[in-house]
Amino acid sequence: MTLPATQDADGLAAGPVRVDLLYEPSGRKVRVPAGVTLFDAASWNGIAIDSTCGGHGTCKKCKVQVLDGAAPPTALDERAFRPDELRDGWRLACRAEAAGDTTIHVPPLVTRPKAATVGVGRQVILRPAVQKRYLELDEPTLADQRSDLERLLAAMDDLELRADLHALRAIGPALRQADYQVTAVIVDDVLIDVQPGDTSGRIFGIAFDLGTTTVVATLLDLATGTPAAVASALNAQQPFGADVITRISATMLDPETLGRLTGLAHQTLAELAAEVCAEAGVDPAEVYEIALAGNATMTHIALGIDPEPLGVAPFILAARLLPEVLAADLGVAVHPRARAVVFPPFGAYVGGDITAGLLASGMDRDQRTRLFIDIGTNCEIVLGNRDWLLATAAPAGPAFEGAAIRCGMRAADGAIEVVTMTPEALDLKVIGDAEPAGLCGSGLVDAVTGLIRLGLLDSSGRLVPEERAAELAPGLASRLTTLGAERVFVLHWLGEPGDVAHSVYLSQRDVRELQFAKAAIATGWRILLEEAGLQPTDVQQVLLAGSFGSYLSPANAIRLGLVPEVGVLRVVSAGNVAGEGAKMALLSVRERAGGLALLEEVRYVELSDRADFNDRFVDQLAFPS
Ligand code: FES
Repeated sequence: MTLPATQDADGLAAGPVRVDLLYEPSGRKVRVPAGVTLFDAASWNGIAIDSTCGGHGTCKKCKVQVLDGAAPPTALDERAFRPDELRDGWRLACRAEAAGDTTIHVPPLVTRPKAATVGVGRQVILRPAVQKRYLELDEPTLADQRSDLERLLAAMDDLELRADLHALRAIGPALRQADYQVTAVIVDDVLIDVQPGDTSGRIFGIAFDLGTTTVVATLLDLATGTPAAVASALNAQQPFGADVITRISATMLDPETLGRLTGLAHQTLAELAAEVCAEAGVDPAEVYEIALAGNATMTHIALGIDPEPLGVAPFILAARLLPEVLAADLGVAVHPRARAVVFPPFGAYVGGDITAGLLASGMDRDQRTRLFIDIGTNCEIVLGNRDWLLATAAPAGPAFEGAAIRCGMRAADGAIEVVTMTPEALDLKVIGDAEPAGLCGSGLVDAVTGLIRLGLLDSSGRLVPEERAAELAPGLASRLTTLGAERVFVLHWLGEPGDVAHSVYLSQRDVRELQFAKAAIATGWRILLEEAGLQPTDVQQVLLAGSFGSYLSPANAIRLGLVPEVGVLRVVSAGNVAGEGAKMALLSVRERAGGLALLEEVRYVELSDRADFNDRFVDQLAFPS
């Protein structure tokens, strides 16, 4: 997709030209790239315009009146309106493009447009790229010897379609088998299949969140916008390393490894696709599109592209905008012509998962200045509002995944996920109601903030002497002890009380790991704020994303200094935003285009070449006192 761009004084592209649209009588003003249709601009911003075809130009219900500004009538307008109506500015909103600032009158709704709530509370008006049309055609005669394709396309003359070979193979048998009553399957402007009878109600897509650790698949009913089934699995690449760097290193050590990793990514995606289809009773051949959001390394590997240049300075992507890919290219056995929408990365360490996350959170459309933080081994940070966006990546290390923590583990059964402390007692919440076996990222953060709050951990990150602990928290002092030469705080005795070696504990070194992670993240967002000329208090909302961010308590994130000190209600767990963004891309072509446009709107700030990074990092090691 190409967007018009303005030129700044240096002749550099300065982003797409934007226009202001005022929708009456609601008085809602929206700012969108020029060239967007009045229908898309409205639905993109949650303003409902009548429609039963979702903006495909077939229902003629999206009538609006342009009160001020230019919108030349299209060929379809000339069929839909009388000349006097055209003169009065009546247009079909899904065909009228916003060329300049425009005021539009929207009549009251007669039908209710289909919409779905996805992303961070976003209302998306359904307009998938996939559509089905049921057609009843005249049979050929000696007087009407049009080809099968001509006959079919003539019945859909509001669309300019191309047919692919698969559709050409299907068309003849379908027409003759079903007495010329068939369903055309269209993706954007390509006819991909022709099916006997009316199958127009069966139309599905699968959204994948391809994580380094976990992969999630959501089967979506594209006719209604509702999820039909969800499944998740560990990424089968796990044996090659826990994080992206170890997987890249594995490909560098052995040239065969890339092929094996690609195969394992495909296997994970294929198994999940089969699982969600089976669960919902959907034939995989009814899935016509998939969307995939993943970090740059996972995306490169899944596409069979060598990830090595991502792992070494200057960290270069194979491509930002990816070519058209089919689901089959990713090993996913659905409809043979199903397309795959792969979210493009901004940079080597701000990947397509973040593009999807920004789309889901609507950061590029919100007036408020918001800070988006996706916490993981690599922490992606984006700051901005609808006028500008800055992004960076901070190497947080493996503390949040539990990997660098002595008793750390992944957020699985047996992991302590919540720790509550008073001076007298300690309470643990464990995943799966099991005996505690270790500490996952959120438990680690809870334990450390609890100790800071009680004064058992000072702001430099040191566990206080035992006598001091006995004064401050008499009920917990016996848990503060040593293992070898190292000071530890015991969270749960697995054997006899006092047997530290058989316990789940937090060590002094673990606290240091968390400090490093926190310092990297805080340095990242502070540098972005500085680049934008803002103070921490200017941040109006903090979105915590990713599997870890979603479990982190906002109060603790503030207490640790992981996020700016804004009110606790302004720190929001955004959940799995990458998966939500992938769903939005399947449900709405407008949202998909918005995701692509983000590539032009986000400015990437590289931290690794900044001379002041180390000093700033050291300054951020202390916990707020
Ligand atoms: S939305 Fe159906 S014709 Fe415009």
